[in-house]
Amino acid sequence: MTAASVESFNLANSKLTVVGAGSVGTSIAYAALIRGSARQIALYDIDAKKVEAEVHDLAHGTQFTPTSVVTGGADIAVAKDSSVIIITAGARQKPGQTRLELAGVNAEIMTKLVPDLLEQAPNAVLVLVTNPCDVLTVVAQKVSDLPYGRVLSTGTLLDTSRLRWAIAQRAGVSLSNVHAAMLGEHGDTEFPIWSSASIAQIPIRGWTDPAGERIFTEEVLATVAYNTVHAAYEIIEGKGATNYAIGLAGARLVEAILKDQRKIWPLSSVLTDYRGVSGVALSVPSLVGPSGIERTFEFPMDAHEISLLNKSAAAIRATLNAIGF
Ligand code: LAC
Repeated sequence: MTAASVESFNLANSKLTVVGAGSVGTSIAYAALIRGSARQIALYDIDAKKVEAEVHDLAHGTQFTPTSVVTGGADIAVAKDSSVIIITAGARQKPGQTRLELAGVNAEIMTKLVPDLLEQAPNAVLVLVTNPCDVLTVVAQKVSDLPYGRVLSTGTLLDTSRLRWAIAQRAGVSLSNVHAAMLGEHGDTEFPIWSSASIAQIPIRGWTDPAGERIFTEEVLATVAYNTVHAAYEIIEGKGATNYAIGLAGARLVEAILKDQRKIWPLSSVLTDYRGVSGVALSVPSLVGPSGIERTFEFPMDAHEISLLNKSAAAIRATLNAIGF
């Protein structure tokens, strides 16, 4: 079977359900529609008027997109037989609010929502986007008891995209030549693994401008990391929410799952003895397959980066303890 036919085979009956018709959910649905990420895209939300309007607005554009059927509504049965369910429903960050502060209210929502969704789609891969996505990945894993890998979150996939964009901008190169990752919590304790970051095959600390001057000094690296960690706060302050980049990241992840593209990305899942970390969900380099995350990789990390991984794990564990998970 050629690669192309594998992709078309995998897509033939693929169904993506997006839960939540807010700005993030509709951006994911819109991006998936434009990319042709799934054969069928269903949008579910408890607000019937809103979700029906969003479904029609998306469907009316399907003449201009790859073959996709757009459906949806306020009845959870719209999720029936989904291959992938991506969850964006819940309270969202207000200006200045941390993602972890949303844990209690959104964990309560997931405790009810996840079993109801799996009743409709028992074989679905669950992708958490609702924040705090790492905490809610643990909640969803516990509530669903699905096999490892079938519950995951976009985690720091989005932050890694922000980091790579910032590096590409400063270096004046294509994003595709930037190899760097943000790991850990999708939140204030996330961190870049500079020790393995490179542009093309040149370690980032050895990258110079045409005059031979080092561009990514320790000060510049610290600024790039700070700006990446705080990007969402700045955007929320300016426009009330983030939606486009997470929409593209979510749609691209769904596509990699459905087309079995074997991507290795920083994604969040419940870890077991990952450099000694267990029982919390954090983003680490992960291999994406048709059933979600197939395995994780212990990329080289220096002692400082390992300490930051443990700090991130402690933040998630403290929040889980505070909400009784
Ligand atoms: C952000 C949201 C998705 O980082 O947490 O934009």
